[in-house]
Amino acid sequence: MDSRGLDGVVAAVTQLSRVRGEEGRLTYAGYEIEDLAENATFEETCHLLWFGRLPNRDELEATTRILRRSAPLDPRVLEIIRSAAPRAHPMSVLRTAVSAAGAYDPEGEDGSAGTNLCKGIRLTAQAVTMTAAIGRCRNGEEPIAPREDLGLAANLLYMLRGVLPDEIEARTLDVAFVLHAEHGMNASTFAARIAAATLTDLHSAVVAAIGTLKGPLHGGANEGVMRMLMQIGSVEQAGPWVREALDRRQRIMGFGHRAYRTLDPRAPILRSMAARLQERAGDSKWLRISERVQETMREEMERRDRKIYPNVDFYSASVYYTLGFPMELFTNIFACARMPGWVAHVLEQQRDNRLIRPGSEYAGPDGLRVLPIDERA
Ligand code: COA
Repeated sequence: MDSRGLDGVVAAVTQLSRVRGEEGRLTYAGYEIEDLAENATFEETCHLLWFGRLPNRDELEATTRILRRSAPLDPRVLEIIRSAAPRAHPMSVLRTAVSAAGAYDPEGEDGSAGTNLCKGIRLTAQAVTMTAAIGRCRNGEEPIAPREDLGLAANLLYMLRGVLPDEIEARTLDVAFVLHAEHGMNASTFAARIAAATLTDLHSAVVAAIGTLKGPLHGGANEGVMRMLMQIGSVEQAGPWVREALDRRQRIMGFGHRAYRTLDPRAPILRSMAARLQERAGDSKWLRISERVQETMREEMERRDRKIYPNVDFYSASVYYTLGFPMELFTNIFACARMPGWVAHVLEQQRDNRLIRPGSEYAGPDGLRVLPIDERA
């Protein structure tokens, strides 16, 4: 049976998250995403994904301590970032830096479950430091070392700007991290699980995931959304711009989802966060353009009888932009937030492993013979 894009195929049994596409519901290990966004931090979410339950106070302290201590980078990895960041896309640099971190990791080839968890914790902290260093080196600035007294989200803002974020900024990014941490068998997680199922090392599986997340149909969409909002430029232009794009059969970034046939439950949370940040900044231009795009899409999709709604990337773009992140770093932020999910899936895959190797239906010619080269057309 040919299922294009593996639509509807169940590729793994997981305890990590459940996406209920028809209802627009998402749970991590049994907890509703709205509850986690309101009441849990990213560090607590990491613990939930790695250990299957929310931490008590002592456990949280232990997980947080090890994350904070793991954040500094090997100077050789930093050197690679310095050299590549001014030229390459930040996601390419992150992919390269993670690969280098694997090559220099003293436990690089140790694939035992305990070591994989330690490596995963290190990578979750280091991806944040790498992303901040990439952001700074792109601008010709020196990277800033992580602080041990900050959470991962606050540290990203601090290392990028060189000044401490206020509480609202830090918590906003922390919630965005919680919302992006895990999402079933999305393309990058599937890539990580395929790699993990060959029993390759954890860094290799994460490199596969980062390369997959980078694409504009997956994590790259948040950068695409911001570029679109800028191209649109004004609320008045939003309607005509979207209609013309749809007439050209162009995909509108930040809309549509393989799993959701209704609103992505993460989108309204991010919308409120964007609204709060922009009100505070006294400029809600991006939110107003986004709302007009959403309204036009609703009308057009109703007219075309299509179930296409905003996804997680649509409002995260204006949240990140209002927090001062350059557009090119948006997908890296997604990667930092998804790291605990990738790690948890690698661990889960290897706990009950079987090589992932689907078939293919051959549709090419048969029975050809090799002619001597001078007789070929
Ligand atoms: N804008 C306009 N049309 C869209 C669309 C969008 N964002 N997303 C899907 N469609 C249309 C397709 O053109 C296709 O139309 P057709 O049947 O006339 O060819 C139809 O809806 C089905 O699309 P398909 O690509 O089969 O759905 P999918 O499940 O494979 O795609 C996405 C899911 C996410 C890849 C797709 O919705 C998309 O490209 N979205 C934009 C990128 C994005 O925001 N990605 C982040 C996802 S979290």
